[in-house]
Amino acid sequence: MFVDIKLDCSNFVQNALGVQKEETIRELQAMLSMKGQEIEYLHAKVLVVRISGGIRLEHVLGKICDRWNNLCIGSFSLSYVLDGSDCELDNEESFDNMLYLYPTTDRIDAKVEDFLPDPASDGFHDHVMELRERAKEIPDDYFVVLVGDMITEEGLPTYQTMLNTLDGVRDETGASPTSWAVWTRAWTAEENRHGDLLNKYLYLCGRVDMRQIEKTIQYLIGSGMDPGFENSPYLCFIYTSFQERATFISHGNTARHAQEHGDSKLAQICGTIASDEKRHETAYTKIVEKLFEIDPDATMLALADMMKKKITMPAHLMYDGRDDNLFEHFSSVAQRLGVYTTKDYADILEFLVGRWRVEEITGLSSEGRKAQDYVCALPQRIRRLAPGRAKEARYVPFSWIFDKEVKI
Ligand SMILES: [Fe+2]
Ligand SMILES: [Fe+2]
Repeated sequence: MFVDIKLDCSNFVQNALGVQKEETIRELQAMLSMKGQEIEYLHAKVLVVRISGGIRLEHVLGKICDRWNNLCIGSFSLSYVLDGSDCELDNEESFDNMLYLYPTTDRIDAKVEDFLPDPASDGFHDHVMELRERAKEIPDDYFVVLVGDMITEEGLPTYQTMLNTLDGVRDETGASPTSWAVWTRAWTAEENRHGDLLNKYLYLCGRVDMRQIEKTIQYLIGSGMDPGFENSPYLCFIYTSFQERATFISHGNTARHAQEHGDSKLAQICGTIASDEKRHETAYTKIVEKLFEIDPDATMLALADMMKKKITMPAHLMYDGRDDNLFEHFSSVAQRLGVYTTKDYADILEFLVGRWRVEEITGLSSEGRKAQDYVCALPQRIRRLAPGRAKEARYVPFSWIFDKEVKI
């Protein structure tokens, strides 16, 4: 499998290989698993691997062999350890996946240029007017959902804080070179563009009260969140697997609705964000897949624990200074429009149970087997218990759209 990476990712490769410190000549601890022999550590100089096109693990190994000619490519495999877990990635597929999942600035830059008017261009004013014309055709309830989604993205400082509460994988210095810390910072940087992109679109569209929206973001970040991770990466990565899929579904649906309302540019904005969320989902579900492989009992207990706590939405503490039930009201509109629903919640759990082959996992303790039964039966239970739609329609004012009332 070739990985399409078009930028120099030598820093990432160095991090993945376990660079220990920043110096002119740095020391690389490459762990070599000799074929059929004991694992041993090799102290070697850092090999800067510059990548400008497709790369395979064997290319990297080839470079290492070129450098140290007592090695030949078939005689060893290179592995790297994900800090904070017993997880070792030692095959081509894992390596390729890590490279594929590493956010590239190429991809990020394309988003902003393609989807929003460029303020440095001569046609900026005209393009803004076109954006506003298209936005006029979109109903208020759609904007309530889009604003809620944007505010959820803008709560990012809290989410990065959460990741850095986790034992074993937190960014110890703020610029740690461990693979976990590099990933978390790159993930944060990419998520940051989601909030920025939606915020800029909403600012330009003229349909929403930015003062109230910014106030809500300020309250939200000030409130923080406590989803019950207890500093455990197991609990957190189960949560993030769920949550990334939830945002993938939600942004995918706002893209679909934007298209239906005739705004293909907005559909592209939401669709591009959805595709990022899909990659994030892939990353986190792969981590949990590995946890199930190396530590099935603890991972099973963590999955049941997280689901008992319920996956609370990251922005559930949102407040605009007026509506004490803002999150419930926003969620009701999202549910009514079919952007994110109780059915989606059950579907996500069912998907993850299938993705991780939870039903087939063996070698569990009696506690673990109970947790397994609980989790496997849960999607059906959630569907059975899901409340039906209230018969009487209610209308609620949202400050985000100048106190206009929207049906919930
Ligand atoms: Fe996002
Ligand atoms: Fe994401």
